[in-house]
Amino acid sequence: MTSIGQPSRTDAAASTDAATVYVCITCRYAGEGESEPRPGAILAAATAQAAEGSGVVIRPVRCLANCTRGLSAAVRCNGSWTYVFGGLDAACGPALVDGARLLANATDGIMPWRGRPEALKRGLIARVPPLDFKEFE
Ligand code: FES
Repeated sequence: MTSIGQPSRTDAAASTDAATVYVCITCRYAGEGESEPRPGAILAAATAQAAEGSGVVIRPVRCLANCTRGLSAAVRCNGSWTYVFGGLDAACGPALVDGARLLANATDGIMPWRGRPEALKRGLIARVPPLDFKEFE
């Protein structure tokens, strides 16, 4: 069983080349008070469960600086753009895994719009280019 305290792939095959989803475990829904477990932690657990056997790595993180628009998560893959999402809910685990797989299979490093889960269309907060990115004019 996958734990959110560890990557969903814990063997030696897990590498930085794997698509990775960082899920904020300290996120709350906007306007809601304290609750335990935090909704972000519930999303992280659901995402880890959805990722089982997928090759997608799930890593919990405490705050992605998107607190007012949580729940929050980021999806990255080596050589690809990194995507930050907000406005997620506890049911978005499978969507995050699907998005990570789309990104991992994208030859241009960009998560395709077509086929992207709805939650990842309406919840896009930002995308960040890969380290070696150069804009061509
Ligand atoms: S607490 Fe989740 S983004 Fe800050």
